[in-house]
Amino acid sequence: MSTPSRRILVTGAAGEIGHGLVSAFAKDPDVHVIAVDLRDPGKAIRANLDDLHLGDICDRSFIDHIVTLHEVTEIVHLAALLSTRAEHVPERAHEVNVDGTFNLLRVAAEQAQSFSRVVKFTVPSSIAVYGLSEQEKSLGGKVGLDECLRPVTMYGANKLYCESLGRYYGRHYRSLTSEGPPPIDFRCLRLPGVIAAETKPTGGTSDFVPEMIHAAAAGQPYECFVREETRIPWMTMPECVDAMLGLLEAPALPGCVYNVSSFSASAGELEAALRPHFPNLQVTYTPHAGRQAMVDTWPDDVDVTAAMRDWGYAPRWTLEQALEHYIVPSVRRQYAST
Ligand code: SER
Repeated sequence: MSTPSRRILVTGAAGEIGHGLVSAFAKDPDVHVIAVDLRDPGKAIRANLDDLHLGDICDRSFIDHIVTLHEVTEIVHLAALLSTRAEHVPERAHEVNVDGTFNLLRVAAEQAQSFSRVVKFTVPSSIAVYGLSEQEKSLGGKVGLDECLRPVTMYGANKLYCESLGRYYGRHYRSLTSEGPPPIDFRCLRLPGVIAAETKPTGGTSDFVPEMIHAAAAGQPYECFVREETRIPWMTMPECVDAMLGLLEAPALPGCVYNVSSFSASAGELEAALRPHFPNLQVTYTPHAGRQAMVDTWPDDVDVTAAMRDWGYAPRWTLEQALEHYIVPSVRRQYAST
């Protein structure tokens, strides 16, 4: 068997996106996955990994040690503290979300220089980079890539800065002295709320929709922490993994940061769409002032035309299709087996 030519370091491999992405990588014999996480990802994910290192991405010597063991050709950096969790521990969030990303970019640049090869660096960003005013939010509709970038959360501020930092390493690194191309091919996917049926989310502010779905499948009442009319863009986890893979595998790209989203829906619309599948569903709305204020600064929808034009991204499902083809059957399977 030939040696895989892609050796991908995946941080946050035990998280929700890591779960889906490493199983996709496991199907590709040309990929060797070097996973990094704080915690053991469990047997199912471990089976899809070639190497696993447990440790903290903020620990520079830990990251340095990993790259002495492996010649890394790509980094997929998923580890992060999401928006709600980050508001409880903002300083720690900055360390993980910014310093951790900086450590990895720095190591990627060093790997590129050592092996005279550009290192691809792919990272999710988030709709939390937006910060719409009340008036802008009331207009509704799709928000463009470069509009309303005034995040009100630590997580959003961290992600917006990391977009810039990545653009710097990917396009402008050492612009006064360096010859040759920048060391990193930086690619960033601004994600909407992501709905996974296989895992329960923690620490995010878009968790109200996946939480409602899991409660419906478990036959439990759900007390939603935002108002019924709260609307943001969404995609399901399989669509998110496909979008990550599409971005990773695209040839050279004109842009560094891309919006993706499949549909825009409010909490109430999701409840209504779930009801035919789960007629006993009980949802009450008890908005949490702080979390509501955060989500109220996120757009109803985002403009995805750059991703469609530059690397062939295509939103796959409407809300109803997502429920029919993925969410309901997967979540039912999961709760039937527990
Ligand atoms: N899912 C993220 C959060 O809720 C937003 O992209 O923090």
